[in-house]
Amino acid sequence: MSTERTLVLVKPDAVERRLTGEVLRRVEAKGYRLVALELRTATADLLDEHYAEHRGKPFFSPLVEFMMSGPLVAAVVEGERVIEGFRSLAGATDPTVAAPGTVRGDLGRDWGTTVVQNLVHGSDSAESAAREIGLWFPGL
Ligand code: PPS
Repeated sequence: MSTERTLVLVKPDAVERRLTGEVLRRVEAKGYRLVALELRTATADLLDEHYAEHRGKPFFSPLVEFMMSGPLVAAVVEGERVIEGFRSLAGATDPTVAAPGTVRGDLGRDWGTTVVQNLVHGSDSAESAAREIGLWFPGL
């Protein structure tokens, strides 16, 4: 048994496109459990911490701007090997090449924007998950 928790973000592009329910449906249909869920607009400070490992990369500022462009849905999702499992559900970073069957492959595309709009975020490791859950849901 290796029950884990991961932080999932339904990004502003997905919320704007009314895809929140579809993303959460896929998470639940896979058998994972929602343990926290909140619609919110992220602050620059929170996103600066969330994406700290990407500070200095060319996409950092546009990514933070994009993530502040509208409300997003933050969730903590629990299940066996859910960190790897959610990233598998999400698909590759670039929605153009993400495999069909994944959230990004089925629902995402390149819109010609400077920032990749790829619908969802999932923690990439146990360490990231613990850090990100602490940032978004302190006290959980
Ligand atoms: S990297 O460079 O290998 O660390 O990139 P990756 O792990 O694939 O992605 C890290 C996060 O940055 C986002 N990303 C981008 N956003 C906007 N535009 C561009 N060009 C871009 N490249 C990477 C990517 O979606 C990851 O964010 P999250 O929130 O985890 O999806």
